[in-house]
Amino acid sequence: MHNAKCTCWNCPAIDLAGKVDFRACGQSGKQFDKTLDSTQETHIMAECKRRPELGLYDPMAITFQECPQWQETPYGYILKDMRVMILGIDGYLGWTLALWLGSLGCKVSGVDNYNRRNWVKERGAHTIVPISRMNQRLRAAKEILDIDIDFRQIDIYTQRERLKEFIDEVKPESIIHYAENPSPAFSMIDVEHAIEVQKNNVLGTLALLFTIRDTVPESALLKLGTMGEYGTPLTGRPLFEGIFPAEAILQWGGREWSLGGELTPRDPVSFYHVSKVQDTFNVYEACKYWWLRSFDIMQGVIFGVHTDQVAADPRLRTRLDIDEWFGTIINRFVAQAVIGIPLTLYGLGKQIRGFIALRDAMECMTRLICAPPEPGQYAVVNQISGIHSARQLAYTVAKIGREYFNLPVQIQRVENPRVEADEHPFEALYEKLPKRYGFKPKVTIDEEITRMFELFLTPEVKKRIEERKQVIMPKTWWSGVKKEVERLELLDLKGEIEEDERLRMFKVHR
Ligand SMILES: NC(=O)c1ccc[n+]([C@@H]2O[C@H](COP(=O)([O-])OP(=O)(O)OC[C@H]3O[C@@H](n4cnc5c(N)ncnc54)[C@H](O)[C@@H]3O)[C@@H](O)[C@H]2O)c1
Repeated sequence: MHNAKCTCWNCPAIDLAGKVDFRACGQSGKQFDKTLDSTQETHIMAECKRRPELGLYDPMAITFQECPQWQETPYGYILKDMRVMILGIDGYLGWTLALWLGSLGCKVSGVDNYNRRNWVKERGAHTIVPISRMNQRLRAAKEILDIDIDFRQIDIYTQRERLKEFIDEVKPESIIHYAENPSPAFSMIDVEHAIEVQKNNVLGTLALLFTIRDTVPESALLKLGTMGEYGTPLTGRPLFEGIFPAEAILQWGGREWSLGGELTPRDPVSFYHVSKVQDTFNVYEACKYWWLRSFDIMQGVIFGVHTDQVAADPRLRTRLDIDEWFGTIINRFVAQAVIGIPLTLYGLGKQIRGFIALRDAMECMTRLICAPPEPGQYAVVNQISGIHSARQLAYTVAKIGREYFNLPVQIQRVENPRVEADEHPFEALYEKLPKRYGFKPKVTIDEEITRMFELFLTPEVKKRIEERKQVIMPKTWWSGVKKEVERLELLDLKGEIEEDERLRMFKVHR
């Protein structure tokens, strides 16, 4: 188990006692252990809220493996009945995670203000997989999976007091923060939308950080960032996992310095991504000032519809969008293939990104929940399971659609409405989740695409795609131009993407 050797120092169920020196934040427990003498009054002690009979004790003395409160699961030891609060629980990932964690025995609570439902409606789009209203979702979760979810309708930015009361009441041991607008294109529509996204995301997160400080500072925050924070540097510089490793060196003017431990450069690619970068600094500072502990999860693009829990009943399904604002690329390609629209590549279609399947993303989140950072630690992981170009994905969808579903799938290149390099080097590291947290991807792209075809070809979903086909083609230009993109070329599908081209473009670190 990846977290067997973690100690109470990592555990959100302890209070720290003794002379806690906030200037020492970010130091690891091991450093404390080495530098502090237990006879001195500066030594930090633990007090367990779940096992008060232990009194005051050394936080490094008990491991998760030894503690009866931490129980074995396939994803690591997890606190018995762990109290997990999901912010944004009505969303694509939030709802899926709620059912996943509920099935693992966690006590799940959550908030949402239905922003996502409203934003999608405002654009004239809809989720192609029909989803139930929240009260039906909650009833179905109880009825089908025997999961009780404590839900409140709260806006985390404008209703800070209500959120504070709820957090104070639940005392979550882990807080998953999904409650943001997730759309680059939505943030580029016009000034109102740019402001809406940045206000909602940046100020919501800032408010949350103060709330955690004042209510549950020992709770672990899992905050969602995005791989898009790093951009795609044309130098080919590797995209490290948020923080430079110890060996990274800056050379300049004949001198050199270690960059180890510093935040890596960010080059966001939309006003949405800028909001995520601002969040990164706010979370980093909060860990520094107040000894909060957080994972900043640089998540790749998610694809897919499946976990065992959401597939257990139509009322438990999670949303899935295909419009230009909220539809992610693979989900959108499969929907296009199903209704006969040639799959749209923007520009050359050689953009490369990191991806991960919905089910695998849930497993990663669970593994991280099981290994809370140390007090004051701002930890970053790149949460992806593979790297692909848009073209490669379009070929894969076309191949599966043609071979297994007998669909005449075509691919087109259209003008790129975004300001981005169509072709660029890409070297992203994603070593921590596999090496430190024991994650191995379980879902292949082909398998999940096949599953999507099966679901999208059901009469109800296919009809819902047809009903909103006019919102798939992009109209939002980063430049502010107002027009629909034009087709540049219909691709000849006989030429498969050459293997050597792929190898030239990416280096994969595992
Ligand atoms: N889906 C992806 O491919 C992807 C990739 C990288 C990062 N992310 C990040 O993961 C998170 C979740 O993404 P998602 O795809 O589930 O998005 P989503 O829009 O489906 O879920 C977000 C949920 O948060 C709610 N919300 C938004 N603002 C809120 C507020 N102020 N108060 C309360 N609730 C609020 C929305 O109503 C929605 O239900 C986002 O932060 C997103 O940026 C997603």
